[in-house]
Amino acid sequence: MIAAYQARCQTRVDTALDNLFDAPRAELARLYQAMRYSVVNGGKRVRPLLVYAACEALGGHAERADGAACAVELIHAYSLVHDDLPSMDDDDLRRGQPTTHKAFDEACAILAGDGLQSLAFEVLADARRNPQDAETRLRMLQRLAQAAGPAGMVGGQAIDLGSIGLKLDQAALEVMHRHKTGALIEASVALGALASGNADADNLAALQGYAQAVGLAFQVQDDILDVESDTATLGKRQGADIARDKPTYPALLGLDRAKAYALELRDQALQALHRLGPDAEPLRNLARYIVERRH
Ligand code: IPE
Ligand code: IPE
Ligand code: MG
Ligand code: MG
Ligand code: MG
Repeated sequence: MIAAYQARCQTRVDTALDNLFDAPRAELARLYQAMRYSVVNGGKRVRPLLVYAACEALGGHAERADGAACAVELIHAYSLVHDDLPSMDDDDLRRGQPTTHKAFDEACAILAGDGLQSLAFEVLADARRNPQDAETRLRMLQRLAQAAGPAGMVGGQAIDLGSIGLKLDQAALEVMHRHKTGALIEASVALGALASGNADADNLAALQGYAQAVGLAFQVQDDILDVESDTATLGKRQGADIARDKPTYPALLGLDRAKAYALELRDQALQALHRLGPDAEPLRNLARYIVERRH
């Protein structure tokens, strides 16, 4: 069931994303090619899925959420391009193909990431691509900027890189994960809610509780898969965290307790949605998927 929903949303967001990478002039062909390479390459599209599912949970139509779905995936793709750089995680494989700096070069990958980030905000500000009233678009821009920036993902990446070889306690690990991964996942749910046009305070609070739990669960599962999956299934190098001595949930708690924690977070996410009806079923299925996924 999640597979059919995922396929439908993937097609929607992939169609919208595909239109963004035609170079406006010949001199920019390589830069646009690198941006396209970094995005149109078979990611799971979990963040766009959360946008659509949150929008639909509040009775909104998916068409209203296409712009927000593109924007969160563009930020995510940019974060991956930079995360893989030699000065950061130094990875060669992403989504089953050479990382952007390997397929192009390092400077091109940095610029492609920068370009993807700018494009995310351009899409969100554009009333044709993101058909909301001006105030809603402004709220979306502010929410995504916060989540992507130093108080969110960028801050989390800074904590991550500053923690190599250290033994963080669980509270510090949670702070890192909530920033580097949770913030963008929370923003995805919030943008979907805003796109629905029905984001009253009670709905937003319920969805925020859900998003905080799945945001953390997502990175806990990512850490688990680094230990127990394989490179071919993951499309990125298995064991990369261990090799680089990164603080992770399995490293701190052991694999079994890390898995139990992921399931506990899933249950918290489901509990947060208790006041929402059957329209929230895609969100519930996504919470289950996030801790059951194998890649
Ligand atoms: C990987 O994200 C990086 C993290 C934030 C954990 P995903 O697992 O969503 O990667 P793709 O988009 O499917 O490649
Ligand atoms: C990345 O976390 C989080 C980002 C903000 C990109 P990881 O470094 O664990 O992601 P992977 O495992 O390389 O996908
Ligand atoms: Mg990293
Ligand atoms: Mg990495
Ligand atoms: Mg990882």
